[in-house]
Amino acid sequence: MLNNRRVHRYSIIGSTNDEAKRLASLGEPDGTLVVADSQTAGRGRSGRQWVTPPGAAIAMSLILRPAIPSFQITQVALLGGLAVLEGIEQATGLTAQLKWPNDVLINGRKVAGVLAEAAFTGDKLESVVLGIGVNVNAGPPLDLKLEYPATCLAAEAGHPLEREPLVNAILAAFDARYRQLGTAALRQAWAKHLAMLGKKVKVIGPGETVVGALEGVTDEGAVVILLESGERRIVLAGDVHLREE
Ligand code: BTN
Repeated sequence: MLNNRRVHRYSIIGSTNDEAKRLASLGEPDGTLVVADSQTAGRGRSGRQWVTPPGAAIAMSLILRPAIPSFQITQVALLGGLAVLEGIEQATGLTAQLKWPNDVLINGRKVAGVLAEAAFTGDKLESVVLGIGVNVNAGPPLDLKLEYPATCLAAEAGHPLEREPLVNAILAAFDARYRQLGTAALRQAWAKHLAMLGKKVKVIGPGETVVGALEGVTDEGAVVILLESGERRIVLAGDVHLREE
C-alpha cells in the first residue's frame, strides 16, 4: 500500500498502461498503482514509442474509476498533467509549464507525458488508466524521433534526483486534484500553467488543423484558438505546435 492505495511493482515490464488495463479488467479498485523500474514497450500518445531506461525515469499508471459522465474524460488526462507538474514543482523547486493537452515542459523542453486510456461498457465509463512517464535522471536516447525537444529533471536541476520522493509528491498532488474532477477549479489551476498562451500555434487534431492564437482551455479540457478572422475554434483532441513566424 502507498498513500492508502494498492500497488503492483515490477522491475521490468512491457508497458505499465497495458498491465494496468489488464488489472482494471479483473476489477482492481479505484486508485490502484502499477509502477515499473523500466519498460520494454512503453507507449506515448498517438501511437508513439516511449522509452523508459532502467533506473532513470518514472513509469507508472493509475487505475481510476471516476464517477463522471463520459464527456468529461478529457479532464482526467488534464488532471494527470497538472498533478505531475505540481508534484515536480513541489519536490524539486523547479518551475514547469503544461503544453496542451498534457505534456509537462521545463524551459520549453518536454520532461514528462501522460497517456490516458478509457474503457467503456456500452456508454458507461468503466475505468481510465492514467499513465505517467517522467524523465528523471536521463532524457530519451538521442536517436529517438521526438515530436518535441526533451529534457530530464536532473539536467534542469543540475544534480541527480531520487525517484521515490517525486512519485510520492505526484501521487499526493493527484489525490488532492482528483476530488476536483468536473469542477471549474481544475481548469483554473490548469490554465495558470498553460504554455504558449497568446502565441500563434498550429493545433493538429484528428480531423482538422487549426492555426491561431492560443486563448485558453474550456472546463471540459478543450483548447480555445482565436483565428485571424476573429472567430473562435474549440478543439477537443490533438497536439499544439508553436508556429514560427
Ligand atoms: C506522451 O507524452 O506521449 C505520453 C507518454 C506516457 C508514457 C507513460 S510511461 C508509463 C505509462 N506506460 C506506458 O506505456 N505509457 C505511459
